[in-house]
Amino acid sequence: MAPPKKEGTPSRPPVYTTSNGCPVFDPHASQRVGQNGPLLLQDFHLVDLLAHFDRERIPERVVHAKGAGAYGEFEVTDDISDLTCADFLSEVGKKTKVLVRFSTVGGEKGSPDSARDPRGFAIKFYTEEGNLDWVFNNTPIFFLRDPSKFPIFIHTQKRNPQTNLKDATMFWDYLSNNQEAIHQVMHLFSDRGTPYSYRHMNGYSGHTYKFVKADGSFVYVQIHLKTDQGNKTFNNEQAQELCATNPDHHTQDLFESIEKGAYPSWTVYVQTMTQEQAEKFNYSVFDLTKVWPQKEFPLRRFGKMTLNKNPENYFAEIEQAAFSPSHIVPGWEPSADPVLQSRLFSYPDTHRHRLGVNYQSIPANCPLKAHNPFQRDGAMAGLHKNNYGAEPNYTSSFAPLTYKKTATSPQHEQWVGKATTFSWKVTENDYAQAEGLWNVLGKTKGQQENFVHNVAVHLRDAVPEVQERTFQMFERVNRDLGKRLRTETAKAANLQPKL
Ligand code: NDP
Ligand code: HEM
Repeated sequence: MAPPKKEGTPSRPPVYTTSNGCPVFDPHASQRVGQNGPLLLQDFHLVDLLAHFDRERIPERVVHAKGAGAYGEFEVTDDISDLTCADFLSEVGKKTKVLVRFSTVGGEKGSPDSARDPRGFAIKFYTEEGNLDWVFNNTPIFFLRDPSKFPIFIHTQKRNPQTNLKDATMFWDYLSNNQEAIHQVMHLFSDRGTPYSYRHMNGYSGHTYKFVKADGSFVYVQIHLKTDQGNKTFNNEQAQELCATNPDHHTQDLFESIEKGAYPSWTVYVQTMTQEQAEKFNYSVFDLTKVWPQKEFPLRRFGKMTLNKNPENYFAEIEQAAFSPSHIVPGWEPSADPVLQSRLFSYPDTHRHRLGVNYQSIPANCPLKAHNPFQRDGAMAGLHKNNYGAEPNYTSSFAPLTYKKTATSPQHEQWVGKATTFSWKVTENDYAQAEGLWNVLGKTKGQQENFVHNVAVHLRDAVPEVQERTFQMFERVNRDLGKRLRTETAKAANLQPKL
């Protein structure tokens, strides 16, 4: 690790003080009665230091706890003003500052970067019309499409409540009983489930969103960020070895690449679908477990994102970064996908718990031009605009505000229907795209073999009943795949090292 930079160091070092600014002569000395006597409560320096240390930790993210991030810029490379009125996309060449945080999902804050897991790919655009967050993953689909399954599913990928261990039976028991997950499971257990680094992976919106125009008309969209470094992965054993030898590999790779000027970039594309096309599409566009075939809905390039600056302080800028799909700007809207709709609630809710009610005032999250004097007070108020000073805290006729009409008025969508409870049933159609990926893997030598191996060495730890249900699930994707998995899992069980 390089020593801290000297630039900007004043000629005389700063005077060390207590938190209230009182100079301290010896930071290692504490006040006591006589040389060996007990400590004095009046020693504010020591009490101040210990009490602050006792409170250094905030809750880690309930998912995506381990991550790394950097700043950069997004540049519009191709005109898409026919699709959206978003100001930051309004003209070719326009640049917007971004903050990006990559992450693993299931592990704790200190867990290894190279674990088999989807990767988070969260981007905050600091636009002139507010902060837009793209809270994406490195897979184009997800494990579920009914939002109430999310907490339940996540529990099965984390630790057993009794043993506090990761648990293969729990893991596969859930997945084999909720087989809409199969497409995402195919991505997870391909070698793309263990990317070489954060720089060498794609990002996908996963959900359907909407590009909206000033007249309120819209198209459905899916966003793809394709790595300009090329997709590169570890195989299962390389990834596992790195978990032990360098658990922070991806974090280090990102920081050091940027530090030496090898700035990673991604080319950004959009797939579009009209409402008429959506009605005829083989799947619901609100089904998060499905992609839009690229031959039918081709990728259209519109931008490039480059990361070119490391944070100066990890905790302030990355740990406290708060992304949410509900942080939107005119021209970009969520679709009615129920998982996305739930996420609109869940992220700000967890931010208020994790960072406090004024989380948007933390510099990393603070928009360029926010002005909301009706949100006042609360813990840590005053970070932004001195808590709006003397400005009225109501819609005052003496100090009126300007209210700007935007394209996000809800007139363009009208929903009518009977209140109902609905959960999505699994049908044969749910296995077709999973087989599509199995076929994509078949185009590169060794990828199908690696897939079978990656599942087998994980599934061998589950109980036989769960293994059997899982084999049957993969047989529904492809008979040959199911057969090969049975054989490989049996072989892997024999090779398993015993404690
Ligand atoms: P296409 O043949 O048009 O596209 C295949 C896609 O798969 C490309 O985007 C490619 O993008 C990606 N890909 C290539 N190798 C792998 C891999 N080892 N793991 C994951 N993705 C890979 O096919 P379709 O659009 O008809 O989709 C076929 C299958 O491809 C789907 O079932 C889906 O699982 C997968 N896929 C589809 C995407 C989509 O949005 N349509 C996106 C990503 C995957 P690249 O190599 O640049 O990542
Ligand atoms: C992080 C909830 C689905 C991508 C989080 C966090 C929560 C959460 C509570 C922690 C946020 C924080 O503490 O700052 C949910 C719920 C989901 C869901 C309830 C479904 C109902 C998804 C999906 C994606 C996704 C489908 C991607 C398409 C992310 C990312 C992060 C994250 C990238 C990390 C953000 C960061 O870097 O700070 N999620 N999530 N999540 N989620 Fe989700």
